[in-house]
Formats: sequence, C-alpha cells, structure tokens
Amino acid sequence: MTERTSIHGQWSNRLMFVLAATGSAVGLGNIWKFPYITGENGGGAFVVVYLACIAIVGVPIMMAEVMIGRRGRQSPINTMRTLARDEKAGRAWVLLGWGGVLAGFFILSYYSVIAGWALSYVFRTAAGMFNGVTADGVQSIFTELVSDPERLLAWHTLFMVMCMVVVARGVRHGLEKAVRILMPALFVLLLLLLGYAYNTGAFDQGLDFLFTPDFSKVFYKCKILSGVESCRFDGGPMLVAMGHAFFTLSLGMGAIMVYGSYMPKGSSITVSATMIAVLDTAVALIAGMAIFPIVFANGLEPAAGPGLIFQTLPIAFGAMPGGHIFGTIFFTLLVFAAWTSGISLIEPAVAWLVENKSMTRVRASIWVGMSVWLLGLGSIFSFNIWSGEGYQLFGKTFFDLLDYLTANIMLPMGGLLIAIFAGWSMTRESSVDEFNMSFSLFYLIWRVLIRYITPVAVVIVFLNAIGVVDWLLSKNLLW
Ligand code: PHE
Repeated sequence: MTERTSIHGQWSNRLMFVLAATGSAVGLGNIWKFPYITGENGGGAFVVVYLACIAIVGVPIMMAEVMIGRRGRQSPINTMRTLARDEKAGRAWVLLGWGGVLAGFFILSYYSVIAGWALSYVFRTAAGMFNGVTADGVQSIFTELVSDPERLLAWHTLFMVMCMVVVARGVRHGLEKAVRILMPALFVLLLLLLGYAYNTGAFDQGLDFLFTPDFSKVFYKCKILSGVESCRFDGGPMLVAMGHAFFTLSLGMGAIMVYGSYMPKGSSITVSATMIAVLDTAVALIAGMAIFPIVFANGLEPAAGPGLIFQTLPIAFGAMPGGHIFGTIFFTLLVFAAWTSGISLIEPAVAWLVENKSMTRVRASIWVGMSVWLLGLGSIFSFNIWSGEGYQLFGKTFFDLLDYLTANIMLPMGGLLIAIFAGWSMTRESSVDEFNMSFSLFYLIWRVLIRYITPVAVVIVFLNAIGVVDWLLSKNLLW
C-alpha cells in the first residue's frame, strides 16, 4: 500500500508525538480527578483495579489507536471510513469516529469549567488569599467560588478561548514548547508538594489509604436487613476505575488517534505508548501521595468530591514558607496541563471540519469552541442554581451525568470497538505493516491482548457494573 500523508502536516520530530500525547494524557484527570474518585471509592483496592486497567486495557488500546490513526492519516471520522473500506469491514465503523467527536464535546464542556477553577486559583494564590489559612477557611473560599455562576462563566470562557487559539493555529505550533518545559516543571512542583506531605505527620495514613487494598470494603456493599448484615458484590467502583483508565490516557474518543495521524512513520508505537502510560500513571500516583496526607492531617473527608484538591492543596501552600509563590506556579502549571489536554479533545472535530467542510482551522475552531462553551453552561449551573434535587436525574447533576456518561460509558465503549477493529477487522498484515515490527514477541503479546484479553476485560467490567455477575453468582451459575 502506498503511504498516506496527512493534509494537516506531521510532528516535527519523533519525540513530538510522545510529548503531545503526554500533554493530552496528563491533565486534570491526574491531579484533580484521580485523587477525588479514589477518595470516593475507598482507596487502595480501587487503585489496584485502576493500575490493572492501565496495563491490560489502556496500553494495548493506546497502541491500537495510534496504529489506526497513523494508517488512516485523517480525522478519526475519515480515518475509520477509509480503513473500514481498505479492510473490507462494514461502513458502520465510521460511527466510531462520530461517537468520539461527541464524547470530546461533552468532556471538554465540563473539563473547561474545572480548568476555570484552576485559573481562578492562580490569581487567588498570587494575591495571598491562602496565607496561613485554616481548613475551614479554604473550604469557604471554594464554596464561595462555585456558588457564583457569573465568576465561573468568566473563567470557563477564558479557558475555552485559550483552547480555541491553540487549535486554530494548529496543534503543532506553540504546543512543543509548552509540553517540553512546563510538564517537567509540573512534575518538580508535585515532588515539592510530596515533600510537604511527607512532613505533615499523616504521611503513613495517606499512603496506607492509597496503597493498602481492602477489597471487601470497596467492592461489597453491606446493609443491615432486620438485624442481619447482608453484603452483595458491587461492580460500580470497578467501572469507575476502568473508565478512569480510559479518561486519564485520553483513550476511546480519537484524541490519541488524531495525534497518531500526525506521527512520522519511523517512530515506535510500542515504546511511545508505554512511555506515555508510565508518565501519566506516575503523575497521578504522586498527586495522590501528596494530597491524602494533607487530607488526613487536617481532618478532612477523602470523599469530599470534585472540590478535593481545591480544598486541600491551598492549606499546604498557606502553611509552607514561600507558599504563595509555589502555589501560584502550581496552579499555573495545572492550567497548562489542562490546556494541552483540552486542545486534544476538540482536534478530532476541527480536523474533520477542515477535511470535509473545507473550513479554515480558524473558523472550525470557533464553531467547535462556541458549541462546547454553550454546553458548558450546564456544568456551571450544576454547582449553583441547578444543584437542587429538582434539577437532578438519577441523583446526579448535569455535570455528574456528563462525567459519568463520558468516562464510564462512552470512552470504554469506544475503546472496546477500537480493540475489535484493530484485532479482528484489520488483517494481520495491515497491523504488522503499520507497527513495523514483523512477527516479534511484542507483536504477539499485543495481538493476544487486543483480540481476547482487552475486550473480554472491558465487557466483564460492564456486566459487573449492571449487576449481571452478581446475579450469576447468586444463582451459583458461575462456579
Ligand atoms: N487525559 C486527560 C486528563 O487526564 C483528559 C482527556 C480525556 C483528554 C480524553 C483527551 C481525551 O486530564
């Protein structure tokens, strides 16, 4: 087959793909979401399932996504259309691309609102608002911010404009510097926070929470029924852990696929995917190790929800010498991490508009950005005027619903389909050719994972979450 080229250009060198994809992967998911969902889901056991999902579901699917993207060299929608034709698979595969575009819209719409919180914290820390503050003080500062829709709107708007500007210029320009300098800086500051956490007195308790798994506590829900305790298996936290593996690695919606389509032919997909997954996981674990000791040392609730890092880290910055400078730098870097993820969420849609509607990148970015901005209003109101029960569905606000639907359903579904396409619809020749690694051991391991283990794991976790496994167990149908 003659090699395709992308009309959007290519990364300037091999390392750029790894940097850009790491920029997409490392974001609010690692620093904001991982700690708070770990706190809500009881700690250690949840972390074990999450790590297992990164290894057996995340890495193989990341390799598949990059491989598909590089072979198709277009937006995920057109890549799926072209490859489905090449491989004589059904035309319906194009829907996978569309699902990804939709997931990207949904995710960015609330992601941008949270990035807005981080933006506002840059200025709050710089102004010294947290100097010597108590845990109660930090809490009320946070509550005051999220209950003010106008302020949230202003920050959300600013973040969306920032994303639109970069995407309009093309992700290659400007991105390179941002990732190369700011990502290592973020890492260093996280280590500094870790050092602070080490000295809080609750470090052991924090580590214990994070790394000592108690499966009975996390995966069983117990109720006292007429004086007798009855426990049943609960697959919910497992689905959240798997969903987060997809979310944090930017998988299942085409972000990594579209970045893969700009990847030069010579780079190794296996090495890149492994590096990205290792870096991403390291950032999340360090963030957790920095945050939980602060939570316990200050008598806070690990299950505080989406506000967790905004209610804990300022305490640390308020107490350490020079804290308002470190704090300002930290939140600035967090905004950058969110920014490099945000742009990857809309790149699939923008690339498609450029290809099919012959729009300029500028116009495409404006259209996409404005639609996402509008949808974001729902998440803004979820924290204030729509937070009441009258505005909830299944006990969830608009923000909770979007988050649940995308991370726990759309991304794993997308990932499952990607695995099936790469493992079953594409011929062995095509994937061998694109991986460029002949019939090596690595290829064989990937092939077994992507054809059997990965899809089965995803399906089991889904069935678990809707109670099928529990039902089979109760009927003694499993063993
Ligand atoms: N991986 C990003 C994070 O952890 C979020 C993201 C999800 C980005 C899906 C792109 C696609 O913050």
